[in-house]
Amino acid sequence: MPNEYAELSINGKTYKFPIMTGSEGENAIDISGLRKKTGMITIDPSFMNTGSCYSKITYIDGEKGILRYRGIPIEQIVEKLSFVETAYLLVHGTVPTHKQRKTYSRLLTENSLLHEDMRHFFDGFPRGAHPMSTMATMVNALSTFYPNVDSLSLKEDIDKTTTRLISIFRTIAAFAYKKSKGQPVVYPRHDLSYCANFLNMMFDSPVKPYEIDPEIVSMMNKLLILHADHEQNCSTTAVRVIGSAQVNLYATISAGINALSGPLHGGANQAVLDMLKKINRKKGGIQLYLDKAKDKNDPFRLMGFGHRLYKTFDPRAKIIKKDCRRILEKLGKKDPLLAIAMELEDRVLKDDYFISRGLYANVDFYSGIIYRAIGIPENMFTVMFALGRLPGWISQWQEMIRSDNRKIVRPRQLYIGEKLRDCPEPPELLDVSYNY
Ligand code: CMC
Repeated sequence: MPNEYAELSINGKTYKFPIMTGSEGENAIDISGLRKKTGMITIDPSFMNTGSCYSKITYIDGEKGILRYRGIPIEQIVEKLSFVETAYLLVHGTVPTHKQRKTYSRLLTENSLLHEDMRHFFDGFPRGAHPMSTMATMVNALSTFYPNVDSLSLKEDIDKTTTRLISIFRTIAAFAYKKSKGQPVVYPRHDLSYCANFLNMMFDSPVKPYEIDPEIVSMMNKLLILHADHEQNCSTTAVRVIGSAQVNLYATISAGINALSGPLHGGANQAVLDMLKKINRKKGGIQLYLDKAKDKNDPFRLMGFGHRLYKTFDPRAKIIKKDCRRILEKLGKKDPLLAIAMELEDRVLKDDYFISRGLYANVDFYSGIIYRAIGIPENMFTVMFALGRLPGWISQWQEMIRSDNRKIVRPRQLYIGEKLRDCPEPPELLDVSYNY
C-alpha cells in the first residue's frame, strides 16, 4: 500500500492519487482511478510522461547511463554471459544453471529447422525486398504452420513456442539474406552454437565453405546481448499493445519487427552507415552534416545520436565503441568510416547544440561499423537488432499476459474536431455513369 499521495485540485475539489515507488526509488503517480473520480483524462502525446506498466525485466536510469537486465548491469552481462544465457535470463528471470543452460541450448538446436514448405515462401519475395519486411511476413506466417499460443495458453506451451521462435527466427533471418543474394539457403547444424550457426547459415556456400571465427562469434554474442531488451521502447510497446488484444505470439512479434524497422528506432543502424558514407564522399562532409542536423528548416537528424531516455551517455554505445577499434584491428580491416565516426562524435561532444539537448551517440552509432567489419551486409543490420531484441519482446509479452491488471490497451483522446453539424447535400452528379 502506498503511504504517500499526490493531490489534484480541480474547481476547488481535491482528489488524492497514490504515489507508487519502484525498487530503485523512482516515483509514479497512479492515476488509474482518475476518470472515475474526476471525469477527466490525461493527455500525454508520445507518452513522454506515461508509465504503461509495472515491470521486473529491465531497469534504465537515463541520466546516469545505467542499463540492467533482471537487476544485473549490462557491463557484467556482456562479460559473463552468452546471448543464449541472456535470452534465458530475460525470458525466465534467472541466469540458467548448468543443467538449465544445457536443456535450453538443446531445445534451441532441435527447433532450428524451418518447416520445409515455408522455405518456398522466400521465392515469392522480389530480390530487392528489405529483409525486415520479409522477417515480419515470415514470422506472421509461422502461425499457419506451427501451433499458436496466446495469452490464454498453458505455460508449458508458451515455453515450447517461444523457445522455438528464438531458434527459428535466426534461420528465417539467414534464409532471407541468402534469398536476397540469389544463393541457395544453408540449413542449421546441430553441432554449432546459436551465433556460430547463424553466421554459418549466412556465409557458408557450396563453393566456399565458411570458416567460423570465434572472435566474430563472440562479438556477435555481445551485440545481440546489448540489444536484447530496453524496457518500454517503441517496438516493445507495439508488442504489448498488439498482444493485449489476445493476438497470437507470432502476429504480436511481427508487429514488433515492423515497429523496429523505422529509422527513428532500429532502422537507425542502417541509416548511420548511409550517413557516414555520404559524409565520406563529400569534402567538408562532417561540418555539412552537423549544420544540416542543427538547421531547424531541415528535417535531417544526425543518425545514431540522441535517445528518449539516455541524456548523458548510452551505456551500450560506450561498450561497443571500445570494441569497434579492437575488432577492426584484430580482423586486419581498415574502415575509413570509423575515423569519420570518431571525428563526428568528437565534434558533437564539443557542440553546444548537442550538449544542451543531451544528445550523445547511441547504440546504433557504432554497431553498424562492427557489423560491416564482421561481414554483415547493411540491409541486415536492423534484422540483427531484431534477432537480439526477440527475447526482450518475448519476456515483455509474457509479463503482460501474466499481469493481474491485464486489459486490452485502449487509450482515449481529446476530440478537437468539428462540433455536431448536419450532413450537407452531396454535390450533383456530373458523370451519371460513375457510381459513387
Ligand atoms: N540530430 C539532431 N537533432 C536532434 C537529434 C538528432 N539525432 N535528436 C534529437 N534532436 C533534437 C530535436 O530536434 C529536438 O530539438 P529542439 O528541442 O530544438 O526541438 C531535441 O533534440 C529533442 O529531440 P526529440 O525529438 O524531442 O527527442 P525524442 O526523445 O523524441 O527522440 C530520438 C529520440 C532517438 C528519436 C531522436 O534523438 C532521433 O531522431 N535520433 C536519431 C535517430 C536514432 O539514432 N535512433 C536510434 C535510437 S537508439 C536505438 C533504439 O533504441 O531504437
